[in-house]
Amino acid sequence: MNILLSGEFEASELHVWQQSLRAALPDAHWLGRDEALAVADTVEVAVVANPPPGSLRGLPKLRLIQSLWAGVDRLLLDPTLPAGAPIARMVDPAMNASMAETALWATLALHRGYFDYAQAQRRGLWQPRPQRRADSVAVLVLGLGQMGLTAAKRIAQQGYHVSGWSLRPRADAGDLDGIAAHAGQAALPDLLAQSNVVINLLPLTPATTGLLDARCFALMPRGAGLVNLARGAHVVDADLLAALDRSHLAHAVLDVFRTEPLPADHPYWSHPQVTLLPHVAAQTDPESASQVVAANVRALFEGRPLAHLVQVERGY
Ligand code: NAP
Ligand code: GLV
Repeated sequence: MNILLSGEFEASELHVWQQSLRAALPDAHWLGRDEALAVADTVEVAVVANPPPGSLRGLPKLRLIQSLWAGVDRLLLDPTLPAGAPIARMVDPAMNASMAETALWATLALHRGYFDYAQAQRRGLWQPRPQRRADSVAVLVLGLGQMGLTAAKRIAQQGYHVSGWSLRPRADAGDLDGIAAHAGQAALPDLLAQSNVVINLLPLTPATTGLLDARCFALMPRGAGLVNLARGAHVVDADLLAALDRSHLAHAVLDVFRTEPLPADHPYWSHPQVTLLPHVAAQTDPESASQVVAANVRALFEGRPLAHLVQVERGY
């Protein structure tokens, strides 16, 4: 079985992926783009990690495009993607768990003022502040999918009051481990107005691009915190900076940016109310992700349904 492996990999990273994928699918031959083109009629699967646009052109027999990334927004922007080939995204419980850890860390740090204490230390200030109970803190998770629901459950386990927001109403809304589930645009203003911490775990689609703007920030209570773990383009940066500068929002934790790496002169780098991470909220784990890939490739060749297919018309 010939499989194209294509993506934005550092050399050392590529080696790790090749080893894990070979171990998970010992019968497969993993090909680079030029090798794949040389045997184009035999390549039925492409495993991709944000490949450069055009990488899947010229492979007429593709029957599965398996992303190593959970978010497929960049992949879907490639106008040369072969029509008819199903796209599956990465869904890995190990990755969901990592995301939940990051979301919980940000929630705890915002709630208990740990980012401010870190600032105070750098300035040599001993400034204890009153402490709030977790059950008096309202957390809103935007997106109740793989990442959002896992994060919401993890945060709720610590005693926070957690709400979640999705596109469509959930059939299991009454039975979500104490998470109050809401759906649809009309529900959002009230949810924002009631939330001390807002965590973004939406996919980037035309409907969610720029969603986190001045109107959203104005609805959030004074002193609230924003945590963006999804995509940089969900946030209107100028609006966020304005909300932070007038201390309407107390702090933002940002893992993702419109341009990555974040340009050296970007105001986020030195803003005292911003804590930033270099897009590491939930990294794909090669070992477990390779097992996810192998399961889908086997399903394809054994004629079973493919898992985690992207609804291209919805954009996620
Ligand atoms: P997912 O399982 O597809 O879940 C997406 C959720 O968003 C679903 O609940 C969906 O609603 C909801 N949604 C989509 N469009 C919406 C809209 N217009 N209004 C309201 N809700 C909407 O995705 P996931 O696996 O949780 O991943 C989410 C995102 O996390 C990825 O797309 C990626 O951008 C980001 N991510 C970041 C990192 C990192 O390291 N920073 C790592 C992995 C992923 P329904 O349930 O109704 O469909
Ligand atoms: C990371 O951001 C991913 O989408 O997997």
